[in-house]
Amino acid sequence: MPPKVPHYAVLGQPVAHSLSPQIHAEFGKQCGIAVIYLRLDTSELGFANTLARFAKAGGVGANITAPHKTEAAQLCQSLGYRAQQAGTANTLIWRNGAWHGANTDGSGLLRDIRERHGLSLENRRVLLIGAGGAAQGVAPALLETGIAQMVIANRSLPRATALLERLGAPDKLHACTLEALPDMGSFDLILQATSAGHHDQPLPLPAAILGQDSLCIDLNYGRAALPFTAWARSQRCERVADGLGMLVEQAADAFELWHGIRPDTAPVYNKLRISARL
Ligand code: ATR
Repeated sequence: MPPKVPHYAVLGQPVAHSLSPQIHAEFGKQCGIAVIYLRLDTSELGFANTLARFAKAGGVGANITAPHKTEAAQLCQSLGYRAQQAGTANTLIWRNGAWHGANTDGSGLLRDIRERHGLSLENRRVLLIGAGGAAQGVAPALLETGIAQMVIANRSLPRATALLERLGAPDKLHACTLEALPDMGSFDLILQATSAGHHDQPLPLPAAILGQDSLCIDLNYGRAALPFTAWARSQRCERVADGLGMLVEQAADAFELWHGIRPDTAPVYNKLRISARL
């Protein structure tokens, strides 16, 4: 039997528009590694079967996207620190006949905030809008940066409270509804982590959350980021970004876990901005 060629993939539903194959191809070119990276839509076989079949065919690394990050963590034999904290995995590594999970969303977001946007997080007030999978994935890393406070605002309060309780650190956290936001003051960093933009639904956000120099980032990219980024710009906020930076940074972390080399993200980010018209 010919040796299986190690290959990589992003698994999700949908995955047709995922930029991950392009990002990993660019990293591979830069580092002189021939990367075979596929898109695997899970709608036919389901997540667990698609992943099992992928491993059987020589898959050694997987990126996991919505809606499978929690199930991915549950299927792993072991989890890294961030994946354990979040209860979700976005990067899987095949080792000794089993999957091992990592979560690079939080570290990717932090690198984007600090290095691309030049914001140091010490003593900052942070607003995290949303309490679903995306918010859950980044919240633990944010909490360990020396921020002064993080307010978790969600459409339904019980979910925001559940995330707060999961995170611990009650002295630094506050949970509220979107309606309560006008009373929460202004924030240095505002992160939009709901899926409202995927359904073209605008969020009822008050201008009062914006300070003089707030940085606003939507964790989504493309069309899904538009309602929030357009709102922030309409409020004359000058520091507004989508989630492309986080996407490229979390991919670089995954690439390093798989190949042992850290790629330079800046040229790949710049190229995607132009080629994907984002
Ligand atoms: P994801 O993995 O993308 O985070 P999710 O786990 O289903 O998806 O979470 C979706 C998040 O977007 C939740 O915070 C959800 O709010 P609820 O917990 O109240 O459902 C939020 N969300 C989705 N559509 C929304 C809308 N139209 N307005 C406000 N919040 C919305």
